[in-house]
Order: sequence, then structure tokens, then C-alpha cells
Amino acid sequence: MILQNQVCFRSIHLPEPWTLKTYQSVGGYKVWRKILKDKTPPKQIIADLKLAALRGRGGAGFATGLKWSFVNYDAPGQKYVLCNSDEGEPGTFKDRNILLLNPHQVIEGILIAGYAMGATVGYNYVRGEFFEPLARVEAALNEAKNMGLIGKNILGSGFDFELYNVSGAGAYICGEETALMDSLEGKKGMPRFKPPYPAAHGLYGCPTTINNTETFATVPVLLEQGAQWHLEQGLPNNGGFKIFSVSGHVNKPGNYEIPLGTPFKDLLELAGGVKDGKKLKAVIPGGSSAPVLPADIILQTNMDFDSLANAGSMLGSGAVIVMDESTCMVKVLARITDFYFEESCGQCTPCREGTGWMARLMHNILQGEAVVSDIDKLDAIASNIIGRTICAFGDAAAMPVQSFIKYFREEFLAYVKKVA
Ligand SMILES: Cc1cc2nc3c(=O)[nH]c(=O)nc-3n(C[C@H](O)[C@H](O)[C@H](O)COP(=O)(O)O)c2cc1C
Repeated sequence: MILQNQVCFRSIHLPEPWTLKTYQSVGGYKVWRKILKDKTPPKQIIADLKLAALRGRGGAGFATGLKWSFVNYDAPGQKYVLCNSDEGEPGTFKDRNILLLNPHQVIEGILIAGYAMGATVGYNYVRGEFFEPLARVEAALNEAKNMGLIGKNILGSGFDFELYNVSGAGAYICGEETALMDSLEGKKGMPRFKPPYPAAHGLYGCPTTINNTETFATVPVLLEQGAQWHLEQGLPNNGGFKIFSVSGHVNKPGNYEIPLGTPFKDLLELAGGVKDGKKLKAVIPGGSSAPVLPADIILQTNMDFDSLANAGSMLGSGAVIVMDESTCMVKVLARITDFYFEESCGQCTPCREGTGWMARLMHNILQGEAVVSDIDKLDAIASNIIGRTICAFGDAAAMPVQSFIKYFREEFLAYVKKVA
């Protein structure tokens, strides 16, 4: 049996798990109180995250401990911690549930991050459409403030931290970390050129760390149970549990919090298997930006960062889109290319122009107006976007195109005119 719901969803079986009362009944804020009481050295917290092999749950899977160590604790002036609750990656619906069901754990994680990096202000940037999750995390913030867990001289420790929830600007690109910073600063959300990296020059030009909602919510449990425990729940370099948002042609779509490294076929079984007894055709394992994998490959793959990278895709945000044998892969890709065309911020020419070309070519293909060479043109446009843009949006738009053509070329051929 697969162990489930041990970290972000550890209390969801309890009544009103979003309240301070329930959160404290499962040990909530214990770690925070202990850190303040013992004056735990910040370096110790970061060392624990490294040992635990915690990797960011927002998409890129960057090592969280390493990221936190990039901030110079002793740098004078303001430092910030940002929580990325923008959750715009198609197929992903986990952060909204964490905010809805366990908002205090996110807050506790942010507080610990602030302490570990010497930051005294945090912002939780919540996707604009998340009205209910925002209300929940706002209520939780007020409860925590009333308990003296946030604010000035917290519990007499001498440490100050202020946290604010902010409603997002309603664009996918605002989930990109530096676009999010611009948006927070009141500007149009546009990714910034890097370097300089946020650890040195982030929000308002100050040292800043940004992590995903699930990453922050993992921290209190990781520290409570111990780094070794966390490491052992997953695989080396892939520690802990991960929430997979399973959607598409399955009998029981939903969020599943399971150990990293769980075989895909076990996750599929948890999600009730493929709907209507049909055969599995393909899976996008990490949100719409991740390369698609055909059934024969994904059925042999484990759900962790390294296994999925070795299989030619990525774990991304953990959004698992399951497609059965009746799926038209050309129509799926057309929908995806439309999304990226719509959401490109337009700053970089290859992305601004390329996403439009790809979307238009996909529609030509669907309408039977394309020729065989258009399939190669599509592939070439995708190759010319990858690595040539300021942020990873360009890669995110191009990788699905390349993988769909790689694995399902015959379906594209069936749509085009049989001329050169
Ligand atoms: C176009 C684009 C959209 C993104 N959207 C999100 C998002 O909605 N939520 C998120 O956590 N990370 C998103 N990211 C990744 C962030 O830039 C950043 O890597 C992440 O918040 C870091 O958190 P982590 O280290 O905890 O994963 C996005 C990246 C790109 C390129």
C-alpha cells in the first residue's frame, strides 16, 4: 500500500483542517516555536533542507537548501521571502488545495524561511482567481498574528517578521519568479534578465528568496520529522512526498500526495485506472510545459525528478494529464499551443513570434490545410525558441511541440495534404 498524505495533506481528514486549532492539534507551529526558543542557528536549518534532498515543488525542482544558502544572511538592509501561489500551469491544482485545507503550514514554512535567511518581510502571491483560497490563508494569517506568531519580537525572541497575502494579476507569466516580483512592485509582470539572480537582487532590488506553496508547506514537517526521515521517504536527491494533480481520462481525478519515486503505474491505480476500461495512450507528467510520454515509456517510469528527466520529460509542477487511446494528439497540441500564444508576454522575439507561428500552423494542420513540410517547420520553430528567451516560458511552449511530433508524427501526417 502506498503511504499517502503525510506532509501537506497530513490533517485533511480532520474537521476544519484550515483552522489554527486543528493545525496545532497535529503539532502545527511547534517547529516555529522551538526554533525561536532554542535560537536554532539558521545554517542548521539550511543544512537540514540540504540533507533532506528537498527540491522545489514549483516546476524546476531546484534544491531548496541550496537556494536558501545563496542569500547572504549578513547582508545589510531589507530581505524578502516570497511564496509563489500563482499556480497557473495547466493541469496543476495542488497549491489551491494546500491554501484551502492547510494554510497555516504554508505560513509556518514562510516564517521559518524568513528566520533562516534573515528576511523580515514576506509576500504570498496568490493567483487572482483563487478567491476562496485567498480568504482562507488571510483568515489563517490573522489567527497566527493574534497568537503572536507573526509580527514584532515574535514570542519574545527578538525576531520580527511581517507577512502579507497579495492577489495576483491574472497572467500565467506572473508565476515566473521575476515577473512575479515586477507584478508585486506594481508593474506589468515581465520576466527579468538573469543574472542578477533574486538572491542578490530581487524584490525592490533587495535579496529575495522565492519558493512554491508546496515547498514552504513541506518545511515544517521535514524539520519536525527530521531531514533523514524526509530523505528516506523518497529517493536520494529526490526526498520526500509530492502532490500529483491527476486529471484527464482516469476514474478518480484528484490530488495524490505520495512518496517521490512511486512508479507511475501505482499512481494510475490510485487514480482508479484509465476511464471506461480504455487503454492508456500517453501522459503529460508535469504540467502542460512538460514533454509528453507515450504509454510504453511512462508505464516503466517512476514519479521523481531524476527518473522523469531520464525518461525524456520532467516532473515539473506534478500535474499528471492522462490521455486514453481515443485522444487526438493533434487536437491536444493545438490547445496547448493556443495557450502559450495567448500567454506569451511578448518581450522576447523568438517567443512572441514563435508561439504565434506554432499556434497558426497547428490550426492549419487541424483544418487539413497544411502540407507535410509544415510538420518539420513546426519542429524547427520550436527548436529556435528553446534557449533563446529571457525566461523558461519559451522552453515551456516549445517542448510539448517537439515531443508530440516525436512520438505521434503519424497522427500529424494523417491531417496534412499528401504533398511535399
Ligand atoms: C512561465 C512560468 C510560469 C511559472 N509559474 C509558476 C507558478 O505558477 N507557481 C510556481 O511555484 N512556480 C512557477 N514557475 C516557477 C518559478 O519561476 C520558480 O522557479 C518557483 O516559484 C520556485 O519555487 P521552488 O524552488 O519552490 O520550486 C513558473 C515558471 C515559468 C517560467
